[in-house]
Amino acid sequence: MKILSKPSELREFIEQKGIKREEIGFVPTMGYLHEGHLSLVRKCRHENSFCVVSIFVNPLQFGPNEDLAAYPRDLDRDKALLEKEGVDLLFVPTEQDMYHPDFSTSVKETRLSRYMCGAFRLGHFDGVCTVVLKLFNIVQPKRAYFGEKDYQQLQVLRRMVRDLNVPVEVVGCPIVRDHDGLALSSRNVYLTKEQRQEALRIPKALEEAERLFKEGERRASVLEAKMREVLSAGKGLKVQYIEIRDADNLEEVEEIKGRVVVALAVYVGKARLIDNKILEG
Ligand code: PAJ
Repeated sequence: MKILSKPSELREFIEQKGIKREEIGFVPTMGYLHEGHLSLVRKCRHENSFCVVSIFVNPLQFGPNEDLAAYPRDLDRDKALLEKEGVDLLFVPTEQDMYHPDFSTSVKETRLSRYMCGAFRLGHFDGVCTVVLKLFNIVQPKRAYFGEKDYQQLQVLRRMVRDLNVPVEVVGCPIVRDHDGLALSSRNVYLTKEQRQEALRIPKALEEAERLFKEGERRASVLEAKMREVLSAGKGLKVQYIEIRDADNLEEVEEIKGRVVVALAVYVGKARLIDNKILEG
C-alpha cells in the first residue's frame, strides 16, 4: 500500500502509473477505522481495480465547541487494517497539505443542509462539501463510497455532485451495526460501559418505529412519540432531534407514503450519536 500526504505527490503517482479515472474507487474517512468503514473499503475494492482511502480529520466540519481535539486517532492501527484489506493507496494529508493559510473558498449546499444535523451543527455540511470536493479533485475517482449511517451527509453529497456536475458516482452503503444493534461509530469510544448500555435505546427506538410502521401506522407524529418514549426512559440520554423525512429530498413528512428516513441525534453523556432507518411503504 502506497502512503502519500501531498496532493501533488498523489496526482504524480497516479499519472506516472497510468491509472485512469475509470479504474479509481475512493473511500474518504476521518480514520479510527471500524467495520463500518471497512465495509465501504471492501465494496470499493470489489468494484474498482484501484482503491484509494483517505484519512483526514477535517477541522472545517467541526464547530468551535465540538470534539475536533478529542476526536480519536490511531494511524498505525488504521494503516494495518487498510493494508490487510488490499487498499492500493492511502492518502493522509495534514491540515497544511489541505488548506492554504489564506484559504477562502467553500462549497455550500443550501437546502438539505438546513435540516436535522445541519440545524444544530452550523457550517458542518459546508465543511463536509468543501473537503469532499477537494478530495474528489485530488483523487479524481470514478466512484466514491459513503455510509448510510450519515444519511444526511450522503444526500447532501449526492446533491452537490448533481448540482455542480462533479464527474463522480456517489455510492451509498448500508449501516453496519455491532452485535447488540448499536451502529458502529468512531465516537462510540467516548461511551462508558453503562452509557453504551443506555445507548442501545437508540436502535431500539428505531426498531419500535419500524414495528409500528409494519403494523400499518402511517402518522409520523405517532412514530416519533413512540421513539421519544423509548429514549426518555433511558438515564443520561438527551434527544437532540427525531425527524421523519422524505428519503430523497429530506422534506418533512406527516403522513408516510413512499420512502422516508427516520433519523435521530442523541447525546449519551458527552457523545453525540446519530442513527437512522429507512421505511418504505
Ligand atoms: P467518518 O465519520 O470517518 O466516516 C467515513 C465514512 O464511513 C462515511 O461515509 C460514513 O457514513 C461511513 N460510516 C461510518 N460509520 C458507518 C457504519 N456504522 N456503517 C456504514 N458506514 C459507516 O463521514 C466522515 O468521516 C466525514 O464527514 C468525511 C465524509 C470523511 C468528510 O470529512
